[in-house]
Amino acid sequence: MRILITGGCGFVGSQLALHLTERGHRVVAMDNLVRRGSEANIERLQKQGVEFVHGDVRNAEDFANLPAGIEFVCDASAQPSVVTGYANPVFDITNNALGVIRVLEYVRERRCPLLFCSTNRVYSADRINALPRREGATRLEWDAAAWQKLPPAERPRGFEPAHGISEEFSVDGGQHSIYGLSKLMADAACQEYAQAYDLPIVVNRFGVISGSGQFGKTDQGWFVWWAMAHWFGLPLKYIGWSGKQVRDILFIEDVCRLVDLQMDRISRFRGEVFNAGGGAANSLSLLEATQLFTKATGRSLTITHEESPRKADLALYSTDNRKVERVLGWKPQVSLGEGLDRVLDWIRKNEAELRARYVSAG
Ligand SMILES: NC(=O)c1ccc[n+]([C@@H]2O[C@H](COP(=O)([O-])OP(=O)(O)OC[C@H]3O[C@@H](n4cnc5c(N)ncnc54)[C@H](O)[C@@H]3O)[C@@H](O)[C@H]2O)c1
Repeated sequence: MRILITGGCGFVGSQLALHLTERGHRVVAMDNLVRRGSEANIERLQKQGVEFVHGDVRNAEDFANLPAGIEFVCDASAQPSVVTGYANPVFDITNNALGVIRVLEYVRERRCPLLFCSTNRVYSADRINALPRREGATRLEWDAAAWQKLPPAERPRGFEPAHGISEEFSVDGGQHSIYGLSKLMADAACQEYAQAYDLPIVVNRFGVISGSGQFGKTDQGWFVWWAMAHWFGLPLKYIGWSGKQVRDILFIEDVCRLVDLQMDRISRFRGEVFNAGGGAANSLSLLEATQLFTKATGRSLTITHEESPRKADLALYSTDNRKVERVLGWKPQVSLGEGLDRVLDWIRKNEAELRARYVSAG
């Protein structure tokens, strides 16, 4: 099959491009290279037979320049940082939300299926942060006992302490962040186009995705950033919650497996939404990540602490994967330990290049 991946030189896009090429597909990676580091993936992709097209999803002309015969589209393009989004809100909205309209118009004209990379940031942080939680020694946890005591009418739909946040959780409320707002607009547009024009479209709301090949930064891709900081001895800081904030980590190999399953069954979906994350077994706090990376690298860092959390940050998030498991039989297979080993192995094998990027360039 001939597949277009927009944002095809970014972390998710490039890993997907390589994976789908290995499976025998012909992949076109379209990217405007706005993300620093994405340009480094072009040669690697081309060597594996991926066709690179420099293009911007906001430009109809760039879609017109694409090779003919595209049969399937994965949209993995975005400005993906919550922090960056506040500096220039119009950029996020034009790029992430209006850009997707161009992608949708492209698939509408060709009646071609689309997988869209959405995010858990479509759920508002003020609602998630209001869920009952308690503080353990190294992490925040959902407080099941406090939840049980709530009158049923006061328990928000789409949350259960044992499972986390499901697709039923409200997207209303505030504190999505500007990035979250832009993705919520795009997410809703994908669902709407699917229904309005009878298009096979799937929306995946991912939490934290990680893995080798990710150029993690302080504000995006934190698991790899934590790995880099320990490997190269870079300064780290906990921002809010004393480092006890928790995320579940989904590794890129599991994203690729999910895409395979969804591609095989795409004809039956019309804007279906799936939450997909690492799940409870792959959850960890920043403090726990520090312990893991200290042990794995043998390097202990002095980490500074800033009291106030970042705007619209989440104290605790875990993905309820039950729908995607029920509908597609998918659940994450790469454990935290395996994922960590793969990331460190990638850093080891590419140490000189990564040192130049992370240490020499500052
Ligand atoms: N990485 C995560 O943890 C995570 C979590 C949830 C959702 N997502 C979503 O997954 C997708 C991929 O994220 P990622 O981590 O690979 O980010 P990334 O920054 O590594 O990759 C995004 C790519 O899109 C490109 N791009 C940005 N704007 C573009 C435009 N207008 N036209 C063409 N290309 C453009 C960038 O140059 C970059 O190569 C994004 O939609 C993001 O919102 C990522």
